[in-house]
Amino acid sequence: MLITGGAGFIGVNAAHYFANKDWQVTVLDNLSRRGTEANLDWLRERTSIDFERVDVRDHRAVGDVIKKLKPHVVLHLAAQVAVTTSVLDPREDFEINALGTFNVLEAIRQFSPETFFIYASTNKVYGKMEDIGVIERNGRYEYRNLPTGVNERQLLDFHSPYGCSKGVADQYAIDYSRIYGLKTVTFRQSCIYGERQFGIEDQGWVAWFSIAAVLGKTITLYGDGKQIRDVLQVKDLVRAYEAAIGHRDTVSGQAFNIGGGPCNTMSLLELIAYLENELGQKLILRWSDWRPGDQPVFVCDLDKAERLLGWRPSVSVNQGVRALIQWVGQHRELFAWLN
Ligand SMILES: NC(=O)c1ccc[n+]([C@@H]2O[C@H](COP(=O)([O-])OP(=O)(O)OC[C@H]3O[C@@H](n4cnc5c(N)ncnc54)[C@H](O)[C@@H]3O)[C@@H](O)[C@H]2O)c1
Repeated sequence: MLITGGAGFIGVNAAHYFANKDWQVTVLDNLSRRGTEANLDWLRERTSIDFERVDVRDHRAVGDVIKKLKPHVVLHLAAQVAVTTSVLDPREDFEINALGTFNVLEAIRQFSPETFFIYASTNKVYGKMEDIGVIERNGRYEYRNLPTGVNERQLLDFHSPYGCSKGVADQYAIDYSRIYGLKTVTFRQSCIYGERQFGIEDQGWVAWFSIAAVLGKTITLYGDGKQIRDVLQVKDLVRAYEAAIGHRDTVSGQAFNIGGGPCNTMSLLELIAYLENELGQKLILRWSDWRPGDQPVFVCDLDKAERLLGWRPSVSVNQGVRALIQWVGQHRELFAWLN
């Protein structure tokens, strides 16, 4: 198995899981994200993964790796991951996310057409979903008429350069199955959180709030804090990847919404309250305007994933966030750069 972006948060958790299940795992990463070197050291201490320092924008280098390994599975996670960064530098965002994914798909088409390709897409491909009514109830937003959440038939509406570059890649992954018969699947992921996530203000809000809370840093709330997200613990996500591999012949060319679903939702204010309660202290808050593409609610419908993958989340939000706070508390040295 080849995991691009395998030294990142989701990547290192996936690599650890699959290596422990006796997969031969190769991690490909350019180590551009803060924390990736520590993640790679952690992984190397526990597993015997191989590592390729490659940038996905370099199509020759990507081609060489795929040609050499002819992997059974490519889990494609490498990406520029922040909406805010994509607004500041849309070209770099496009080159990493859209062209980088194209490079991986092309390498598979040319050198390893039997490979199963899993793409980590995002719920941002659905944009602001202004056609769906939202109401406020008990200090949190919710859909007026969608009790089970958003399903895969929701119109695509790429919003922000990040939404566009991820959306392009999402559609290429589906189309390479349709046109070239490659085995591909795209996971439109909601907020994923968990250990080894170096969340920052711009991306990875559950981890960032937890890190800032433990270290006594200021948390900026964009919008009114009542926005709702379904959140998924990374171990559950990795099990969903495993389920897709198990169903590779029946899910090819399909998109799945993968997140915590209606049973695992949280508003920003609810997370703040939970952290204050767990840590027994008041957090330092600042307020600012909504950010581009921010949805007041996103909750995905897990029906398709349950039916076709036999998968559903198993870690509750309280359990998952408690484990994350403990991990941050035990690894304060990893966040020394915040001081
Ligand atoms: N974490 C989430 O909540 C979430 C939600 C939806 C989708 N996703 C997607 O899941 C994937 C993994 O996200 P993550 O949270 O682990 O992020 P992450 O930033 O921790 O991991 C991304 C990895 O890609 C690497 N990378 C960046 N540019 C690269 C390049 N040009 N060449 C090679 N490697 C490069 C980084 O060094 C990093 O290790 C991304 O594609 C992201 O868009 C994440």
